[in-house]
Amino acid sequence: MKKYTEPKRYLISFDSRTSSHVFTDILVIGSGVAGLSAAIQAAKHGSVLVVTKDKIDENNTAYAQGGVAVVLSTGDTIAKHIKDTVDAGQGLCDTAMVKNIISEGPQRVNELIEWGAAFDTENNHLIFTKEGGHQFHRIIRAKGDSTGKEIEHTLIRTVKRNKNIKIFEYTFTTDLITKDGVCHGAIAWHAKKGYMLIWAKRTILATGGCGQVYRETTNPDVATGDGLAMAYRAGVTLQDMEFVQFHPTTLYIAGAVRFLITETVRGEGGILRNKRGKRFMPAYHPQAELAPRDVVSQSILKEMQKTDHTHVYIDIRHIPKERLYARFPRIREICASFGIDIAKDLIPVRPSAHYMIGGIKVDRFSRTIIKQLYACGEVACTGMHGANRLGSNSLLEGLVTGYNAGADAGKSIQKAQGELIPYTVQEFMGGSKISWLDLNDIGNSLKSLMWRDAGIERDERHLLEAEEMVEMWCSYVMDKEFSNPTGWELQNMLLVSRLIVISARERKESRGVHHRNDYPNTDNIHWKKHIMVKKSKS
Ligand code: FUM
Repeated sequence: MKKYTEPKRYLISFDSRTSSHVFTDILVIGSGVAGLSAAIQAAKHGSVLVVTKDKIDENNTAYAQGGVAVVLSTGDTIAKHIKDTVDAGQGLCDTAMVKNIISEGPQRVNELIEWGAAFDTENNHLIFTKEGGHQFHRIIRAKGDSTGKEIEHTLIRTVKRNKNIKIFEYTFTTDLITKDGVCHGAIAWHAKKGYMLIWAKRTILATGGCGQVYRETTNPDVATGDGLAMAYRAGVTLQDMEFVQFHPTTLYIAGAVRFLITETVRGEGGILRNKRGKRFMPAYHPQAELAPRDVVSQSILKEMQKTDHTHVYIDIRHIPKERLYARFPRIREICASFGIDIAKDLIPVRPSAHYMIGGIKVDRFSRTIIKQLYACGEVACTGMHGANRLGSNSLLEGLVTGYNAGADAGKSIQKAQGELIPYTVQEFMGGSKISWLDLNDIGNSLKSLMWRDAGIERDERHLLEAEEMVEMWCSYVMDKEFSNPTGWELQNMLLVSRLIVISARERKESRGVHHRNDYPNTDNIHWKKHIMVKKSKS
């Protein structure tokens, strides 16, 4: 078996002299909260093209339930929100970035409200709830448990009204076009239109996360880490890839998709019970069910092991039925479809992969180390979350970093005139035959491996096993040339998995969401620092 080292620069062969070309001032790849926020700002300065690989509202944003953490309630302060965020991040937050994002939050949320976002209110005042690690009621929500959907659809309406913004749905971006450290757009593919080279003065990556590399995940099928992978292939630095956040409570019914049971269920008084019906969280943390997510996930895992059971339960039977049904309509509906009445029955739950804290290293304007390339939202790593993200800080981060990326990209094209000059660019893969590959089998095996060996609890033996297996799959998948997203997504997932695993192996301590059984303590002397990964020049 040949040794796998680094991916090729591009996923597909192409020749700009025979491809179709599209031109835009600003290209936005991805259509969640960050991408659409960026598009709206960028469109104040030039033409914008939003490219998304599925329908426009198929992304993590649209599935977000809990809400947006924002300082808008009486008594709350920016300083308190910063403190909670930094405490959760366990020594690795970029405090300047935390301050910028939290301080800009109220403006961005008020803007959304002006655009029509209907957050839940009582007597015309926003309702605030609490989530783990937040010392204050500062989470706003919409339609009970459909906050992401409300934000996404508000942004879609705003984008669709804007004549400067075009949208290409079902268009898969395979790679960024770069030359001498400058980004000039991207290569994309559409089932009917074929390949196209999209030339852009500025490119903004907002492709979201990579939860699909794990067997258990709250993320939709589209979350395959494409943006992380294409940025890495283009030479961008990725930071903190070992910090994968696991959400403690996902509906667990064998055969059913892993639907998120929002943390606000615990915020409203939900109690975690083990197989024997015993409440266990007070024994693990003074904040019990509202302890930070890493603590709750690890405690649930321990209870599952102790009781030899596949899951634990959330109990909300003590909350009045009318209140429950009004507060969590979507969870009620999904649970009911499996015969669970949330007012009468225990809800079976277990942890699953939820959020990539690491990602493309960016500055406060969402700029990457490649000129003319920005990244925002989950694909980016601003340093806001450090080693552990507080619930509902990510929609906030997406709103603010998307805004900043779009505004900076837009303003910068106004300063620099007439610089969109396409050039000849070609790639010939000459890859080996793909006929013997079963992509589904490799994909499913990868997800199981990552869950087992690079999940909530890690150690050297399992991480090494994961690294060797992933590299073996890489050695015969990465040199192939596929002609549709199934193959490209697998290549991206393999690459991202490898980066998660090598970063997790390197960090020989436990901190935040990264828990190593063989190094159970936090080691501030050696590890109060970030792990960066960057493709070596081949
Ligand atoms: O539990 C939740 O509703 C998740 C929120 C988040 O991940 O920010």
